[in-house]
Amino acid sequence: MNRVTNLLNIKYPIIQGGMGNISNAKLAAAVSEAGGLGTIGCGTMTPEEVEVIIRELKTITDKPFALNIAITVTPYVESLLELSIAYDIPIVSLSAGNPAPYIPKLHEYGKIVMAIVASEKHAIKAEAAGADIIVAEGYEAAGINSALELTTFTLIPQIVRSVRKPVVAAGGIGDGKGLAAALMLGAEGVQIGTRFIATQEAPFHERYKEQLIQASGTDAIIIGRSLGRIRRVLQTSYVMELLDKEKHGVSAQEFNRITSEKHHVLGAIKGDLENGFLNGGQVTGLIQDIPFVSELLEDMMKTARQQVSAGLEQLNSLSSSR
Ligand SMILES: Cc1cc2nc3c(=O)[nH]c(=O)nc-3n(C[C@H](O)[C@H](O)[C@H](O)COP(=O)(O)O)c2cc1C
Repeated sequence: MNRVTNLLNIKYPIIQGGMGNISNAKLAAAVSEAGGLGTIGCGTMTPEEVEVIIRELKTITDKPFALNIAITVTPYVESLLELSIAYDIPIVSLSAGNPAPYIPKLHEYGKIVMAIVASEKHAIKAEAAGADIIVAEGYEAAGINSALELTTFTLIPQIVRSVRKPVVAAGGIGDGKGLAAALMLGAEGVQIGTRFIATQEAPFHERYKEQLIQASGTDAIIIGRSLGRIRRVLQTSYVMELLDKEKHGVSAQEFNRITSEKHHVLGAIKGDLENGFLNGGQVTGLIQDIPFVSELLEDMMKTARQQVSAGLEQLNSLSSSR
């Protein structure tokens, strides 16, 4: 047990990050059942739509799961918080905005609050506001990204030295080596998005999973930088068109329209890569198979242990030589 597994009441310190609008009960339940923490990402879904997923999830698992609310993305923050209370969801993760106004109420109802941040400054603020776990997400990550562009390897130790609350590393983690590295940087858990899409239980379109297997790390590219609407996606024909439009000075309004959640759903769920896009992180370069979630988690734990012992052996041999 460590502080993260203790607080979240889970076996392994591995969290499935929220995936706005394409989150579903099957993947979240599979992760929770396998000993990690599944999450429903509310995205821009209506509270009624989210409620359907919560109800389904509760029929599949009685293990803990989380609700992710992207504060500046959804127009329904208050109603979603009410849903977490009504359905007794023990953990709420707050991203894409200032979590401070919402934490006292969540604590009043005994919830564990995770705050997703991308800088040391925001981690300190989130801790001061009462967040129980700080999830630090590096620029390698899939989906909407911070304009600060800090990568996981440098971000985690900066935050670990500045806060007392447990830190979870996100962005670029997809196997046991990544888990081991995150722990060595001082994190007490990992949050994963991209790797969980390429699993048997994830009900996303097969083309999404195929793309993740075929893509190399350099195929996970940034769009929207010129407009301050940064998102990491897989390089597909639709994305190349988006980049071309950006190069030719597309308006922010038009860019928002063509990168709206509607186009995300078209790509991820319908597999329509001519009209839709796929969020994807740089870790796509490591993905070569489509395991069951439980196989992935067990393998991550086993490999992490091996990796840490191999590292220690290496260090010991270095200090005893010469
Ligand atoms: C398809 C997809 C949708 C995502 N949507 C959200 C979201 O709605 N809210 C959020 O906080 N993070 C979102 N993320 C980020 C993940 O929760 C997670 O932090 C991130 O994917 C970790 O980096 P990785 O992709 O390298 O594993 C999304 C990621 C993916 C792959």
